[in-house]
Amino acid sequence: MHVPQIVSTVSSRTIEEIGTANAGNPRWFQLYWGRNDDFTRSMISRAEKAGYSAIVVTLDTRLFAWRERDIQNAYLPFLYNEGLANYFSDPVFLSEVGDPAKDPMKTMMHFAHCFSNPSSKWEDLAVLRNVTKLPVIVKGIQHPDDAKKAIDHGADGIIVSNHGGRQMDGAIGAIDTLEGIADAVGNNTTILFDSGIRRGADVFKAMALGAKAVLIGRPYAYGLAIAGEEGVEEVLANLLADVDLTLGLAGCTSWEEVTKDTLKYFWKKKK
Ligand SMILES: Cc1cc2nc3c(=O)[nH]c(=O)nc-3n(C[C@H](O)[C@H](O)[C@H](O)COP(=O)(O)O)c2cc1C
Repeated sequence: MHVPQIVSTVSSRTIEEIGTANAGNPRWFQLYWGRNDDFTRSMISRAEKAGYSAIVVTLDTRLFAWRERDIQNAYLPFLYNEGLANYFSDPVFLSEVGDPAKDPMKTMMHFAHCFSNPSSKWEDLAVLRNVTKLPVIVKGIQHPDDAKKAIDHGADGIIVSNHGGRQMDGAIGAIDTLEGIADAVGNNTTILFDSGIRRGADVFKAMALGAKAVLIGRPYAYGLAIAGEEGVEEVLANLLADVDLTLGLAGCTSWEEVTKDTLKYFWKKKK
């Protein structure tokens, strides 16, 4: 299907295993940017060797939000050392903790300490810039000023996203921030978009408001939960078909024709 995949730092299989399974398809690596620069360098170099072609650094999750349902369900897979395959296979992490199986709680606490660096600053993006020649894309942008700062500090692209509303309680909808951000930086960078893309019309609107491409988060995971690999394929095939039809129904034959102007004939903008 050639739909690109962005693989998270926190995953149950390693960067290398996923790279092998996904050989021949485009894939990017999403970095949770921790406190240890050696670990960051190690992760990025592993991603480069495994054929990933861009680094997505997520900046809206330097702290986990207050998530009542996760707390009610005592849902934190990391507590059970799950989702940490990239850490448990990393020479820098292992040199710090030893064998994770010997003391799982100590390993988890070390992960929790290293996972993120809430005090990092825009200037620190230079660290990533110096580590890799791959494009660096900043995920989690919701304000034109932050978009400008990301670009000024070396980002090759941005992902407008509110993390699906899972981080900042009461955050503005990501789609409502897109137009302003595109007006501010659309000529200087590549803008991608996620949070709430479910149907062809959602894709059309995001593209019309300035995105060059969109990402999906939960829908593929729902397909995976229901029917594994086949479920993911179904979700993607349905969405792609819906996108194609929407484009045609809007009277467009290519994405170049999809502009803000096109949008006004088909959807009323919310006041
Ligand atoms: C269970 C779950 C896990 C996620 N893990 C990550 C992650 O590891 N890295 C990341 O950048 N975003 C992560 N996200 C956020 C998604 O990448 C995406 O920004 C968000 O889900 C919005 O898209 P959606 O509305 O299509 O789900 C996660 C979201 C969910 C629901």
